[in-house]
Amino acid sequence: MERKTIHKEGPTFSRIISGAWRWNLDESKIDHLIASSLDSGITTFDHADIYGDHRNEEIFGNVLKRNPGLRNKIELVTKCGIKFSSGRRPRTWVKHYDTSKEHILWSVDNSLDMFNTDRIELLLIHRPDPLLNPEEVAEAFNTLKQSGKILHFGVSNFTPTQFEMLQSYLPFPLVTNQIEISITHHEPLFDGSLDLLMKYRVCPMAWSPLGGGKLIKEGGQELFHKASRYGATPAQLSLAWLLKHPAHIFPVIGTTRPERIVESAKAIDIKFDVQDWFEMLLVVQGKEMP
Ligand SMILES: NC(=O)c1ccc[n+]([C@@H]2O[C@H](COP(=O)([O-])OP(=O)(O)OC[C@H]3O[C@@H](n4cnc5c(N)ncnc54)[C@H](OP(=O)(O)O)[C@@H]3O)[C@@H](O)[C@H]2O)c1
Repeated sequence: MERKTIHKEGPTFSRIISGAWRWNLDESKIDHLIASSLDSGITTFDHADIYGDHRNEEIFGNVLKRNPGLRNKIELVTKCGIKFSSGRRPRTWVKHYDTSKEHILWSVDNSLDMFNTDRIELLLIHRPDPLLNPEEVAEAFNTLKQSGKILHFGVSNFTPTQFEMLQSYLPFPLVTNQIEISITHHEPLFDGSLDLLMKYRVCPMAWSPLGGGKLIKEGGQELFHKASRYGATPAQLSLAWLLKHPAHIFPVIGTTRPERIVESAKAIDIKFDVQDWFEMLLVVQGKEMP
């Protein structure tokens, strides 16, 4: 598996990343998913404080605790800023965003605790908060950088303008914007989202690269008819479609099945023909390029 810096100032990640949103599973299953990821060269794991109703970081952290050598073989990404009502968060009564300095610092300490670790390679602000105060976020990020708790910072689901605005308050680069990108959700290729990241040499992370599974279940013969010519499965072809983009997209896959992690990792070897790439776009757009 190719490894690449997501930004020239780091961090270095596996080109395909395992996402833990759906990993609300028992520890032995998480063990398997981590092992299959590592066997396939996937060393980077994408989390958020809220995944699995605030439990997935902890389950993953229990596996790390039982396997002392494991932490140094992987890179952790997590997110903060979304709050919702839950038995685990009894003081929250309405879903909202919180990007205050106090909450960011609290959330990171909590994530470190859940993961049983002393550092996280990349922290993302999960969603653009309409009340986001960039000076407060910058203060929180500076504190976390100086303490060594967080090595790099980024955002998720930010528009280009929101990305540039927050960046202008920071003394170090935002290293990614994690956004939804797939063959069916291809707007970021045309609406300036990827252009802006390329301008700043920032690689995007793509969430739901298989459209949450819908792409495979509903994509159909027309979309994937070239798969067999590549000796590929529809999932591999969908990931290879993203990997061909010159923005150096890092797909974050979401499967809960070890064998599908192995399958997905092989997408890295597919050399996509440019006409096949446009043909898939034609199928989902229903019209030729102008
Ligand atoms: N930043 C954000 O706001 C945000 C939002 C959403 C997600 N994310 C991140 O992105 C990651 C991936 O998102 P996602 O889970 O939606 O990604 P995805 O890979 O597009 O979808 C995963 C789903 O597709 C199914 N699937 C995978 N391969 C399949 C196949 N060959 N045939 C049929 N179904 C298949 C999986 O089922 P099985 O489990 O049965 O394989 C799973 O339900 C998350 O884990 C999270 O880390 C971030």
